[in-house]
Amino acid sequence: MDIQWICAVTIILAWFCRGSSGHQTAVEPPRNLQIIDPGLLGHLYIEWQPPPSLLTLDQCTIKYKLKYRSTGDADWKVVFTKKLKYGDGFDLSKRTEAKVQTLLEGRCTNESEVKSDWTHATFQVPSQGDLESQIRDFHCVYYNWEHLTCTWQRGRLAPLGACYEFYYWYEGLDHAMQCSDYIQTHGRNTGCKLQNLRQAEYIDFNVCVNGSSESTQLRPSYFTFHLQNLVKPSPPEKLSVSISAYEDVHVEWSPPARGAPPQCLDYEVQLTEHDGDADAPWTAVSTQVETAFTFSQANRSRVSCVRVRGKTNMFCADKGFWSEWTRECFYVSRKDEKQLFILIAVVLSFLTVIIIFILAAQCKKRTNGEKNISPTSLYLD
Ligand SMILES: *[C@@H]1O[C@H](CO)[C@@H](O)[C@H](O)[C@H]1NC(C)=O
Ligand SMILES: *[C@@H]1O[C@H](CO)[C@@H](O)[C@H](O)[C@H]1NC(C)=O
Ligand SMILES: *[C@@H]1O[C@H](CO)[C@@H](O)[C@H](O)[C@H]1NC(C)=O
Repeated sequence: MDIQWICAVTIILAWFCRGSSGHQTAVEPPRNLQIIDPGLLGHLYIEWQPPPSLLTLDQCTIKYKLKYRSTGDADWKVVFTKKLKYGDGFDLSKRTEAKVQTLLEGRCTNESEVKSDWTHATFQVPSQGDLESQIRDFHCVYYNWEHLTCTWQRGRLAPLGACYEFYYWYEGLDHAMQCSDYIQTHGRNTGCKLQNLRQAEYIDFNVCVNGSSESTQLRPSYFTFHLQNLVKPSPPEKLSVSISAYEDVHVEWSPPARGAPPQCLDYEVQLTEHDGDADAPWTAVSTQVETAFTFSQANRSRVSCVRVRGKTNMFCADKGFWSEWTRECFYVSRKDEKQLFILIAVVLSFLTVIIIFILAAQCKKRTNGEKNISPTSLYLD
């Protein structure tokens, strides 16, 4: 009995020992980590190869932990992947750094996670041109979800003959494209207009404004944004004002007919009590998704102009620009004004009636007097 028990324990121990001898307790880091710029204006690929010793392993999952950031970023972005390639957007005017390690887990490691050391790589576009030759005041607006307009100013120290060019890329384009519709000031490119960008919404939109001049090189500028965050919608349409039986002022409008998806708009309604005065203060009364608003009696008193504007709401974008205003002026008499008017009307009609009575009475008197007097007067004549 005892011997059997000891044998069993020995066999079990032996099995464990044999098992443990095959366990991996260390793993090598990935090889050939590289950051590759395919010329997509900021979309970079981070690539690596598996450690050589792993090529023969089975019964284990091999994963990679990738960390990357641009200089100046406080935090690393962290990705766990089984693949050997990862792409993301970066600011090419900064240095990009990446590191990757091998993670091994499964029966080959007795189900515990084994990590390798990190492999590092960095990438930076070779810097060219003076920093002051870079464009300034770069702004883009995506008008009514229909066309994108970007503008810039030439660099402070850019040579006179400097010529800037606008390139863009988003996922779906094979390569970076150059602007085909430039905005020009004095024959130089100072902006670009683009259309048909529906496919480019909600993804990274990469832009590079670089350039050349005869004498020196110009420093390129890189930008990455999301079109839906740059929308300036067309102003609301068909603004109408009606006054209900209870004298509430009801304002209604429609979203712009084209472009902006109606569910993507928020509105601001404002009113002023001073008609015709351009500097009159406007009071904000509401910001809302609905396309109607009612000023209750207490609220409106002498309201004479209403205006409404729209902006992309939080369901469709993180930010946006306000549209121009649509305004409508009208006049509603106050209740006490109306009562006064009625009172005056009543008094006036009352007075008129009295006057008519008096006049009538006098006329009658006069005719009676004439009738009485005339014979006498005839006699006297
Ligand atoms: C394997 O893992 C089990 C459970 O975690 C543990 O009890 C055992 O000692 C491990 N074996 C070796 C050889 O590390
Ligand atoms: C500007 O950038 C585009 C796109 O990367 C490139 O094809 C072009 O050669 C660059 N131009 C200059 C003057 O560097
Ligand atoms: C006027 O309208 C605003 C916005 O709806 C509301 O917050 C406010 O209380 C109203 N004022 C009065 C006096 O009813």
